[in-house]
Formats: sequence, structure tokens, C-alpha cells
Amino acid sequence: MGQIQLNQVTKSFGNVQVIPPLDLTIEDGEFTVFVGPSGCGKSTLLRMIAGLEDLTSGQISIDGEDATDTPPAKRGLAMVFQSYALYPHMSVRKNIAFPMRMAKMDKAEQDRRIEAAASALNLTDYLDRRPGQLSGGQRQRVAIGRAIVREPSAFLFDEPLSNLDAALRVGMRLEISEMHERLKTTMIYVTHDQVEAMTMADKIVVLQAGVIEQVGSPLDLYNAPCNKFVAGFIGSPKMNFIEGAEAAAHGAHCIGCRPEHITVSTTEGLWQGTVGVAEHLGSDTYIHIHGVPGCDPMTVRASGEFTVKHGDRVYLTPDMNHLHKFDEAGLRVA
Ligand SMILES: Nc1ncnc2c1ncn2[C@@H]1O[C@H](COP(=O)(O)OP(=O)(O)OP(=O)(O)O)[C@@H](O)[C@H]1O
Ligand SMILES: [Mg+2]
Repeated sequence: MGQIQLNQVTKSFGNVQVIPPLDLTIEDGEFTVFVGPSGCGKSTLLRMIAGLEDLTSGQISIDGEDATDTPPAKRGLAMVFQSYALYPHMSVRKNIAFPMRMAKMDKAEQDRRIEAAASALNLTDYLDRRPGQLSGGQRQRVAIGRAIVREPSAFLFDEPLSNLDAALRVGMRLEISEMHERLKTTMIYVTHDQVEAMTMADKIVVLQAGVIEQVGSPLDLYNAPCNKFVAGFIGSPKMNFIEGAEAAAHGAHCIGCRPEHITVSTTEGLWQGTVGVAEHLGSDTYIHIHGVPGCDPMTVRASGEFTVKHGDRVYLTPDMNHLHKFDEAGLRVA
């Protein structure tokens, strides 16, 4: 079990309120991802759930029971941080066993859980090594192993992969997703990485300045962002916002169109502009275009290789089925 409910939770440091009253329910077994700009309160929220940070007011319940004043060790949650904080003088086996030794668990049961975690995380051959003899990805797997053996009712991850290189991140991302498929344990995962958020989450929580802007499935947020902030935050490259006469013609203060929903042509189209920079990724070409009325620069994502260079005139046509309309307050109108 691992249903977590936040009721009117607030947090202030001194007289600065970083989390205004916030309500959120995370269902048992759900993979929830917190995203938002740096300083918006993601870690603070996670630490309050873990019990590492007091609430200023409000209430947290775990599986229906009030856990607001329950000490961290009694909450049945396991937290994995960006820095893995392993004990350097202990073997992998002892590092993983540590929380069970502290809990004075039966030795045979400890061994059973270590073997199971090591096997799930491909660490079986490394149990006798010390952390200094492991790669970054292997060390992060040890930290996850140490969390798994506690058999927590929920895992809390605070940017666990951000110290790893790109290839390792992809590998670990898949391992954590597979672990979630297998264990079906509640997971709350903080990340700055768009791909992690979109691919791992059942539910994404978008935060800004301690306020939840929107909660929904990755595709809900991508297809129907409730305001300009979410629209601009979810998706990479970012959604284009077009203001002025072009937006008014669509009955909106601002229209949004994602780079992948605009067709670029060298001969004809609805809008025109001049190529600033073209980024050739091989799989895609990101073209940044100047001079489109109401939107400068406009970014377009063309599939595959699209041959244009700085200064070329191009024509652009948005996919009308994928236009997002916003009012003056930045709220979605259609
Ligand atoms: N111990 C503290 N004392 C005072 N202010 C704090 C403390 N911890 C965090 N804050 C403030 O609370 C706000 C939220 O911080 P938090 O670490 O939760 O942000 P975050 O969303 O995790 O950011 P990042 O993406 O950079 O990790 C920030 O404005 C931060 O400066
Ligand atoms: Mg943080």
C-alpha cells in the first residue's frame, strides 16, 4: 500500500512562504513526477512527504492514516537522492544491508532481500566491491538497492539520475521504469528532464512557486495544457506563442503552436520569415526563424534532415488541429 495525501500543506522558511496551501493525492502504485523551474519547491515537498522537513501547517496522510508527525523512519518510505551517499568503507553488500542491520532484521531475511535486489539491479557480481570501485550508474543502483530492501510502501526520488552521463541516464531510466512495472510500488520522482517526465510518469505534477499549475497524464499535459506556463514548460523544443493580429484572427489573445505542428517550406505557406539558426540533429532539424509577426523567433521541428541555412526565406503553415488558444490571463480558452 502507498497512497499519499497532502491536505492544505504549507511550508515557510522564516517569514518566506515557499509552499502556499497545497492539496494533492497520489494513488497507491502510481508513478508521479514533480516538475517545475528551479526553486519552485519540488525537493521541499518531497522532503515533507519523507518527514525530513516539518510542515508549517496542514496534514499528510499515508494509506489513510495521519502521518504529519510520524518520524521519517516510521513512514515506510524510502528516499533516493541525486548524490548517492554510500558508505565508502563498506562493501556493496553491506551498504545495501545497512537499513536492515539498523532494523535488526533476521540475517537470513537480510540475505534473501540483498540477493533479490542485486539480481533486479544487475549488481550480483559487484556485491563484494566498495563504492569507489564502481561507475556512477552502478553506485546509483546500489543506492536504489538500499531503498528496495526496506520494501517501502513508496519510493521518493529527488533527481536520482542528474549526476549520470546521457547514456547511463537512459539505461537507468528504463531500469527504474521496469522496476516500477515489476514492484508496482508508489513512486514520486523529481526531475528536470522532459523525457524522464514524459516517459516514466503515470501522472505529472507541474509546480510554479510552490503552486500546482496542473496535474495530469503526460499526454493530457502535452495535448491540453491548462495555461501558458504549462504549455511552455511541457515539450521540447518549447511551444511557440503568437500574439497580436494573428492571434486575434483566431479569437484569442495568444495562440500556441508546438514546433512539431508547423510545416516548413521554401516555396509557400501561411507565414513567412528568415532562418536564424538551423540545428541539424540528424533525426530532426530545429529551425529558428525570425520575422514572423507576433512570434520571434519561431521554432520549427522538421523531421529528418532539412537543408536550409542562415538568411534563407522560409514559409510556415501551422496544423490547425493543434492550435492552442489562450486568453489575456494566459488561461486556455480552447
Ligand atoms: N532550508 C532552507 N531555508 C530557507 N529557504 C529554503 C530552504 N530550503 C529551501 N528553501 C527555499 O525554498 C524554495 C524551494 O526550494 P526547493 O529546494 O524545494 O526547490 P526545487 O524545486 O527542489 O529546486 P531545484 O530544481 O533547484 O532543486 C527555494 O526558494 C529555496 O530557496
Ligand atoms: Mg530540488
